Amino acid sequence: MRPSRRNLFQAVGAGAALLAAGTPDVNAADAPATPPAAAPATPPALPPDFGKASSANNPVNIVSPEHLEATARKTISPGRFAITGWSGEGLTYRANRASLDATPILTRRLQRIDEKAIDLRTSILGHELPFPMITCPMGGHGSFHVDAEVATAGGTGAAGTLYVSSGASTRPMEDIAKATPGPKWFQIYMNRDMELNRWLVQRAKGAGFTAIVLTADALGPGQSDEYIALGRPRDPTLTVGNHDPRYGGRGNFGDLKRDLSFSDISFLHEASGLPVVVKGVVEPEDIREALASGAAAIWVSNHGGRQMDGGPGSFTLLRPAVDAVQGRVPIVFDSGVRRGVDVFKAVSMGATVCAVGRPVLWSLMCGGAPGVKSVYDWMAGELHSTMLLSGVSRAKDLTPRNIAATKI
Ligand SMILES: Cc1cc2nc3c(=O)[nH]c(=O)nc-3n(C[C@H](O)[C@H](O)[C@H](O)COP(=O)(O)O)c2cc1C
Repeated sequence: MRPSRRNLFQAVGAGAALLAAGTPDVNAADAPATPPAAAPATPPALPPDFGKASSANNPVNIVSPEHLEATARKTISPGRFAITGWSGEGLTYRANRASLDATPILTRRLQRIDEKAIDLRTSILGHELPFPMITCPMGGHGSFHVDAEVATAGGTGAAGTLYVSSGASTRPMEDIAKATPGPKWFQIYMNRDMELNRWLVQRAKGAGFTAIVLTADALGPGQSDEYIALGRPRDPTLTVGNHDPRYGGRGNFGDLKRDLSFSDISFLHEASGLPVVVKGVVEPEDIREALASGAAAIWVSNHGGRQMDGGPGSFTLLRPAVDAVQGRVPIVFDSGVRRGVDVFKAVSMGATVCAVGRPVLWSLMCGGAPGVKSVYDWMAGELHSTMLLSGVSRAKDLTPRNIAATKI
């Protein structure tokens, strides 16, 4: 998904009839429309060419991330697809890929590697995973697939790995939890109403989520030029499942707490009794303070370039983060992870797991739950062959010596 003038003009042409929908608080998919007090008898009409969400339900033959994205783009309208974009002109979005691409893998030879013994397994916060990949929290899957997060969580669980449920999910957290047999964490966008936050994280614990992810970096509009040019399309019938009164929810999702501080980490831990993972802290000083405030894991991310534009590629932030953490807690890495080779590089640099974002959404559009499983099978397969070809048996044995880390 490379921002280009051509894409922009194509999208504007296709979406000329879309209605302007006002400025949402954070990115459109991260924060769907605030639910009404009661469900309207007749849902408001969709903009004329907003089209339908995908209903595909099949395994996907993955050739490359670019091919997957191009195929996904054809499954839904430009207005829906633009919700998956970046902020501004996509400088940070492109930097994410550039920072990973700039780091070559180094190879060992004559290492007696038995292909059948290659071991991708890892563990994080007490969960054994078949490979070092988990699903990013992403909001509003109902814009992309009729089964929304139930399909994404189901596909992630079928692949055997951990699902992180967005606080801005279309479906309520209980439905999402039931959809996956695998481990799951709940991501919260903190509300100004602290009792609502307490209620949400306690509810998450009751639903079977085993950690709370505090997203620290989503504070602003974060919209792409393309999305704005389309008139900021959003499906007015979609609500935030956890707050929707039809599903027993309450509170105003849009009343976000902007003045987040380190004390919110201890609040969430005390309120839930669960470990708190802090997502989007990247400066070593912030990471040290987050750890001092009780963070159980650090998640290095720039939100996939969907918040501040003009920042560094996420991979360049990983090494300083690893140095700041000094092995005290696990590290999750995301933003730009597209292939098994990217996972190899990030784990070599010191990440415990990579979180997969847009490729999961693209595979959701192309194939629903079986499609999501396909993307993990494909990425794990590439990680496996990269280990074989670079002379490493176990993912747990990867170190910075396996990459030319000094080059970034
Ligand atoms: C459509 C979309 C919605 C997202 N919603 C959320 C969200 O609700 N909460 C959150 O913490 N991050 C959200 N993110 C950010 C992802 O968790 C992750 O940081 C990002 O997708 C990684 O970048 P990548 O997809 O380019 O690899 C969202 C990302 C996308 C693409």
